Amino acid sequence: MSNGTKAVLNYGDGKSIEFPVMKGTVGPDVVDIRTLYGKTGMFTYDPGFLSTASCQSRITYIDGDKGELLYRGYPIEQLAAHCDFLETCYLLLKGELPTPAQKAAFVDTVTKHTMVNEQMQFFMRGFRRDAHPMAVLTGLVGAMSAFYHDALDINDPHDREISAMRLIAKMPTLVAMSYKYSLGQPYIYPKNDLSYTANFVRMMFGTPCEEYKINDTVVRALDRIFILHADHEQNASTSTVRLCGSSGTNPFAAVAAGVACLWGPAHGGANEACLNMLQQLQQQGGVSKLGEFVAKVKDPNSGARLMGFGHRVYKNYDPRAKLMRETCYEVLGELGLEDDPLFKLAMALEKVALEDDYFVKRKLYPNVDYYSGIVQKALGIPVAMFTGIFSLARTVGWIAQWQEMITDPEYKIGRPRQLFSGATSRNVMPIDKRK
Ligand code: CMC
Repeated sequence: MSNGTKAVLNYGDGKSIEFPVMKGTVGPDVVDIRTLYGKTGMFTYDPGFLSTASCQSRITYIDGDKGELLYRGYPIEQLAAHCDFLETCYLLLKGELPTPAQKAAFVDTVTKHTMVNEQMQFFMRGFRRDAHPMAVLTGLVGAMSAFYHDALDINDPHDREISAMRLIAKMPTLVAMSYKYSLGQPYIYPKNDLSYTANFVRMMFGTPCEEYKINDTVVRALDRIFILHADHEQNASTSTVRLCGSSGTNPFAAVAAGVACLWGPAHGGANEACLNMLQQLQQQGGVSKLGEFVAKVKDPNSGARLMGFGHRVYKNYDPRAKLMRETCYEVLGELGLEDDPLFKLAMALEKVALEDDYFVKRKLYPNVDYYSGIVQKALGIPVAMFTGIFSLARTVGWIAQWQEMITDPEYKIGRPRQLFSGATSRNVMPIDKRK
C-alpha cells in the first residue's frame, strides 16, 4: 500500500534515510518506519500515540475534523437509522451487512449462546455485593476462559468464531447478573424469543415474581446506545485488547483487559463521571453556578475537567453525541421526563462551553458520553452500570479487532520501546553501607 513517495529523515552528520509512505483508502498517509531502528539505531518517541498508527485496519474509520464515523464504510447515522445492534455486530465482524437469511442465522446463533455456565453464579458469589460492576465484570469476562476452554485455539477459525459468539451473546447476561447481584435479587435467565436488547432489558429489570413487560422506548434507546458504542477504531481499550491478544493469549483474557481499560474516567468511565459531575453541579446550585464551574474546569491547576467534553480524534462535534442528544429528546419525551433538570443543566452547560474561547480554541466538543448518561439514567439504569453497558456494546468491536489482528500476516507481539531517563548501571551497596 505504498503510495510511491518517500519520507526522508536527515540525522547525525549529514546522514539521511528514506522511508516508504503508505496510503490508506482514506485518511492521512503513514510513514513506514519499521526499518528505522535497524538502519539507524534510533527509536521514535510518541507517548500517547499522537502520531503513530499501531496497525492496519479495515473496520472503523473516524474523520475527526469532519466529525465522521464509519463502520466498514457505513456512516453511523445511517446504521443508527436503519439497522439494529446485531446487524451492526455482523457488519463489524464480517465486513458486510447481512442479508435477511444471514441475519436470521446470526441472531439464532447469538441467541443460543446467551446462557452462562451455571457455575459462574458461584464464582460471582465471591465478590462483595457493593463492588463496582466494572470490577466484577473484569473478573467475570476473564473467568470465561476458565468456563469455556473447549474452543480456545486462537489459530483455529472455528474456535475464534465460537469464542466471538460466546462473548457477544453472554455479555448482556453477565452485565445483568452483576446488577442483580448488587441488588441481592435473583438472576433472570435469558429468554430466547426476545431480541438481544429486549432480553438484556428483561434480565436487568425483571424479577421471577411477575411477567416483565418490555417497554419499546427503552429497548430502542438501548439498542441505539449499543450501536453507537460498538467500535471506535484504535481507542485505548481496543488497543489494549490488541496488545494483550498479541501475546497469543485467549480472547476472553484479552477482552477482560479491554474491560479494565474501558473503566477509566478518561475513556468509558466518562459517562459515569459526567453524570456524577452534573448531579454534583445540580446540588451546588445548578445553572446559577455554571460560570464558577466552567472557570474551574478551565483552570489547569484545579485538576477538574468538563467530563463528556473533548476527544483525542474528534476536533468537531462527535457524531455519536449528536445522535445521543437526539435520543435524549426522544426518550425524555416518550417517558414524560421533558423537564428533567439534569438534561436542562447539561444543555445549558453545553451552550456555555461551546461559546467559551477556551473550548473553541482547543476544539473541545461534547463526546458521546456527555448525553449517554442522561439517557441511561432516564431508562432506569443506575450510574454505576453505565460503563458496564458500554463494555457490553464495545465487546463486538474488541473481538472484531482482535480477529483482524490474529489473521493479519503482519501481526507480531506488540512491544513498544522507551526513551530511558533513569539511572545508568551502578553497584548494589550492602544494606549497612547505604545512606
Ligand atoms: N475539560 C477541560 N479541558 C480539557 C478537556 C475537558 N474535558 N479536555 C481537554 N482539555 C484541554 C486540556 O487541558 C488541554 O489544554 P492545554 O492545551 O491548555 O494543556 C487541551 O484541552 C488538550 O487536552 P489533552 O488532554 O492533551 O487531550 P487528549 O487528546 O490527550 O485527551 C480526552 C482527550 C478525551 C482524554 C480529554 O479531552 C478528556 O479528558 N475529556 C474528558 C473525559 C471524557 O469525556 N472522556 C470520554 C472520551 S469519549 C468516550 C470514549 O471514546 O471513551
